[in-house]
Amino acid sequence: MKIACLGGGPAGVYLSISMKLRNPEHEITVYERNKPGDTFGWGVVFSDQTMDNLQINDPVSAQMIINELVHWDYIDVYLKGQVERSGGHGFIGIGRRRMMEILYGRARELGVELVFQYEFEVASIQTDFADADLIVAADGLNSKIRNSDLKGFATDIDLRPNKFVWLGTHQCFDDAFAFFFEKTAHGWMWAHAYQFDKDTSTFIVECQPHTYDKWGFEHMPHEESAETCRKIFEQYLGGHELLTNSRHIRGSAWISFPRVLCHNWVKDNLVLIGDAAHTAHFSIGSGTKLGFEDAICLAQNMNSGKPVREALQAYQDERELEALKLQSAARNSMSWFENVPRYIKAFDMKQFTYSLLTRSQRVSHENLRLRDKAWLEDIEKILAGKSYGKPAAEPVPPMFTPFTLREMNLKNRVVVSPMSMYSAAEGMPSDWHLVHYGSLATGGAGLVYTEMTDISPEGRITLGCAGIWNAEQEGAWKRIVDFVHSQTEARFCLQLGHAGPKGSTKVGWEGMDEPLDQGNWEIIAPSAVPYSAINQIPRAMTRVDMDKVLADYVSAAKRAERAGFDMLELHCAHGYLLSAFITPLMNQRTDECGGSLENRLRFPLEVFRAVRKHWPDHKPMAVRISANDWLGAAGITPEDAVLIGKAFVMAGVDIIDVSAGQTSPDAEPVYGRMFQTPFADQIRNEAGIPTMAVGNIYEIDHVNSIIAAGRADLCCLARPHLMDRYWTLRAAAEQEYHGDGVTCPVQYLTGFEQLERNLQRAAQMAINA
Ligand SMILES: Cc1cc2nc3c(=O)[nH]c(=O)nc-3n(C[C@H](O)[C@H](O)[C@H](O)COP(=O)(O)OP(=O)(O)OC[C@H]3O[C@@H](n4cnc5c(N)ncnc54)[C@H](O)[C@@H]3O)c2cc1C
Ligand SMILES: Cc1cc2nc3c(=O)[nH]c(=O)nc-3n(C[C@H](O)[C@H](O)[C@H](O)COP(=O)(O)O)c2cc1C
Repeated sequence: MKIACLGGGPAGVYLSISMKLRNPEHEITVYERNKPGDTFGWGVVFSDQTMDNLQINDPVSAQMIINELVHWDYIDVYLKGQVERSGGHGFIGIGRRRMMEILYGRARELGVELVFQYEFEVASIQTDFADADLIVAADGLNSKIRNSDLKGFATDIDLRPNKFVWLGTHQCFDDAFAFFFEKTAHGWMWAHAYQFDKDTSTFIVECQPHTYDKWGFEHMPHEESAETCRKIFEQYLGGHELLTNSRHIRGSAWISFPRVLCHNWVKDNLVLIGDAAHTAHFSIGSGTKLGFEDAICLAQNMNSGKPVREALQAYQDERELEALKLQSAARNSMSWFENVPRYIKAFDMKQFTYSLLTRSQRVSHENLRLRDKAWLEDIEKILAGKSYGKPAAEPVPPMFTPFTLREMNLKNRVVVSPMSMYSAAEGMPSDWHLVHYGSLATGGAGLVYTEMTDISPEGRITLGCAGIWNAEQEGAWKRIVDFVHSQTEARFCLQLGHAGPKGSTKVGWEGMDEPLDQGNWEIIAPSAVPYSAINQIPRAMTRVDMDKVLADYVSAAKRAERAGFDMLELHCAHGYLLSAFITPLMNQRTDECGGSLENRLRFPLEVFRAVRKHWPDHKPMAVRISANDWLGAAGITPEDAVLIGKAFVMAGVDIIDVSAGQTSPDAEPVYGRMFQTPFADQIRNEAGIPTMAVGNIYEIDHVNSIIAAGRADLCCLARPHLMDRYWTLRAAAEQEYHGDGVTCPVQYLTGFEQLERNLQRAAQMAINA
């Protein structure tokens, strides 16, 4: 097979090696625009697993790389004159130039033809390489080939705001990957630094765009840029220079990271590989690994006997998923670095470091324990001490630290998120609700929420929704509250709501958000805008309607107090009435309650203030918001959510329950583990407001790391509690936790003890296996 490989970076050259190893008959030419020693960048970092893959594929080049790898174990974080060191991180690195020398040598040895200083042109690819059976587009992150047909390759490029420059230095960093954070006259700048041979280190400098602009880096010659950075980071450089090897790059040496995602990697006999197909932010150091693994996979498929087109598709199918997984972790990491000043402001040194180490969400709480037990236990003690208000003698799992809102003390940070049961008749909570909430409260969570409980019959979502608009319902709720208080240590929060434009619909399992087949009642909303094409057009509310809703909220709050609830939450999320006022997607009013965010918040804040006035001072209140309509600037954005949070806090809210979406059927959410937590993080740490995170939080590690990293103060779990009411007790058994942060009902103690023993045994067997 005749192969033209366009681009001689790690992906292209390793592909040529991997193809030749499988069939020496292949005729392969690699075309590279630069000279062999010209390579940009300095060192690259690998994991042990990448090296294992390379060993299996080509032991010869792998061994040559291994012989030159530098190994280091620590991560050092330098901030405000302090250094925080944690261990067990295990990195390996090599200089990019040396790595490429090894790969070029190996490729030549196998009979690959390498053509340097050859600039291919996209327009003439098909004629210049007409005799090639396969054309490999390995031309890197700015791939001309991909960019010439963005639509054909179904490309999505997201150019990120931060700026970075890849520098080198002869300063060595003492066996550690070091992060230096420096406050400059124009804002925070930071460096990611690691040694990659006996006397050279990579030194990547990064900053936010306004800092870049103020320093004028855009128009600085490369040397001047490096010298300016040297002065900024002088105290860490031991008198060494910062070096640039980017002279062959025209224009500024600083780059904005383009997050590239292609949904189609194949066009006829042309295939994308490496950064041309996908990019992963440099801060998780996986770009080269992805390129190598693409190369191995492509070579395997091309030599599998499948027809070319089929082999190329099989390659894409295998690699796309892997790339997406890494890109998801890389996105989290990148977003952390885009918000560095937020975390510097919000955290002390320890928590800042914890948040940095867990930024990609691939390194979890327990993973940190495996890396450096002493360091992790130290932070567990510090966080517990902060929670108790006095030093903690022992480390405590973060989820089992107490939390106080006004005079309500929670035993731990786990919350049963509100979940409609659609099992009430005429709004009356039934025996189902008693058993449901009773068992949830015995399960160990510090705070249990009711489902959205409606303030009026016409404010219900469905005929099965629970309400608190009459004395009978108040009495039924009181029975449940009394059970929770007399039998458990959980606190109980009532979520108050009005369905607004999403009212008069079927119960969840018969057709979510679908109108009733018959017997629909009139629905109201800020504007006559239906939730979706199939929903009723609501009547736009008049001031008389608003006054009635306001009075219903106040009356419901008084009933909640008489029923004995510990906390109240106003449901201002998911497109229901108050949420519909907040989002511009549904609020098109032209009076003082429509238009600007300030105006759209007017009525929800009015309701909140009225309820707060009648809710006892010592009891806390929350609001649940949709922090992102998932429709870009057309709807609520996370930045708006910070302002919404601030406005409610000014009005007296104690904590923001940060959900997202469900305000439009056209929304395009990005799902994943803990996918809404970044919004809780942004509100908490930009506005200094306590938050609750919710959404696909289901593992013990998720809760511990969200709390320890200060991404939220409480974690709400909904669906996990439907299948396991004892989620928190189980978490205590698994962590062998016996402190005050959770209480097992005495009736269930033997079960708890057995579970703990069985989990210990299973863990031991896993270690011995
Ligand atoms: C600051 C920074 C730090 C990084 N750190 C790491 C790290 O620690 N670990 C890691 O694994 N990855 C790291 N990466 C990512 C890594 O550099 C890339 O993911 C990797 O180089 C991708 O390999 P590639 O072969 O696909 O593309 P490239 O390495 O970009 O190679 C593409 C090649 O194609 C050539 N080319 C392009 N157009 C033409 C043309 N028209 N004619 C001829 N030749 C052409 C280019 O000159 C280049 O040599 C980092 C990236 C950056 C920017
Ligand atoms: C069956 C069910 C009913 C729900 N009802 C409500 C509700 O009444 N009020 C509310 O704010 N959220 C409600 N939600 C949303 C959850 O509280 C939570 O935000 C969402 O399920 C994401 O969390 P999870 O991934 O832990 O399930 C409901 C979710 C489920 C699964």
